[in-house]
Amino acid sequence: MEYQAKELFAKHDVPVTLGTVVEKAEDASAAAEALGGRVVVKAQVKIGGRGKAGGVKLAENPDEAVARANDILGMDIKGHTVHRVLLAPTADIAEEYYFSFLVDRANRNYLCIASIEGGVEIEEVARTNPDAVAKVAIDPQTGVDDAKAAEIVSATRFPAEVADEAKDVVKKLWDVFIKEDASLVEVNPLVRLGDGHLEALDGKVTLDENAEFRHEDHAKFEDKAAADPLEQQAKEKGLNYVKLDGSVGIIGNGAGLVMSTLDVVAYAGEAHSGVKPANFLDIGGGASAEVMANGLHIILGDPQVKSVFVNVFGGITACDEVANGIVHALELLGDEANKPLVVRLDGNNVEEGRRILNDANHPLVTLAETMDGGADRAAELAAQ
Ligand SMILES: Nc1ncnc2c1ncn2[C@@H]1O[C@H](COP(=O)(O)OP(=O)(O)O)[C@@H](O)[C@H]1O
Ligand SMILES: [Mg+2]
Repeated sequence: MEYQAKELFAKHDVPVTLGTVVEKAEDASAAAEALGGRVVVKAQVKIGGRGKAGGVKLAENPDEAVARANDILGMDIKGHTVHRVLLAPTADIAEEYYFSFLVDRANRNYLCIASIEGGVEIEEVARTNPDAVAKVAIDPQTGVDDAKAAEIVSATRFPAEVADEAKDVVKKLWDVFIKEDASLVEVNPLVRLGDGHLEALDGKVTLDENAEFRHEDHAKFEDKAAADPLEQQAKEKGLNYVKLDGSVGIIGNGAGLVMSTLDVVAYAGEAHSGVKPANFLDIGGGASAEVMANGLHIILGDPQVKSVFVNVFGGITACDEVANGIVHALELLGDEANKPLVVRLDGNNVEEGRRILNDANHPLVTLAETMDGGADRAAELAAQ
């Protein structure tokens, strides 16, 4: 969200005014007062085009700030409900520019896109006047040094009077991009103020989740309320889980095997009223009882799930350990385990694994000989 992006900007000395975030309209009065009375009230949602949707409004005084906050809180902007607004001092805007750094996957490069015709019509400018939008490739090995910053500023055709400051801001935004492990840093508008200085009036940052481990402070940016509750639970348990629309729950070990399992289940489902996989869940290498129980707990918590297909290939974790894992998981879950489970085991120690499951003779568990057979059985059970 904008206010979070601006926190990151401030950390790297990009010129911003942080303002105040409120969740209740009545709190807007004191906040506006403290900011000088005249403020902009801005919806904080993870989607652009807030201005055009009526989510950015000017308030002349604290009373108006409360009224505008009232209008904007609870608003739906392209499917995002507004739970908080940012109150920011009104800026004296002379010009609005567009600026961004992003990952250019096609060219295995970074890319800067910038334009002196920024603001809420930037998409229109890109369409009707593409020459007004500069694109500068950035070599990841050298990044944005003084020379690159100068190249960007000249390609964008920033006015001479802001060129020096623009070079500085460009380098600071590059710091945000690299040091925070972002895949996108976008400022629209970057404005030239009446006094000639630059300021980032809006910000959007996408952070690379794979780099989370070196940014403890990024955890606070996660929007727990917006995440799927089961995906959130799975994440807390360290499981790779993605909720899908179908009714056959899937558990497998290894992302490749789970992906193929989704395919065979979707294919088998065509013969059983078109049932589909309900999720992706990779329990990884060590399919212990606890991990298996966690996985089953998540999947059985999805009311759309009608059957579960456990597809495990024993490698370093042998099939007998996996089988014991399943038996213990069902014990741990007790009454919570209430949907049929089709289990297909293969690989290391498969005979012993099957023997353990046969001996346990759990009423919900069916053993399948092959992956295709298991998928078909699970689809059939879900269709019933
Ligand atoms: N603090 C501010 N002071 C004055 N005008 C602002 C301020 N913040 C935003 N605006 C104006 O509102 C427009 C839209 O706001 P912005 O933050 O870019 O939201 P969005 O991009 O989601 O529409 C900006 O282009 C700018 O003209
Ligand atoms: Mg904007």
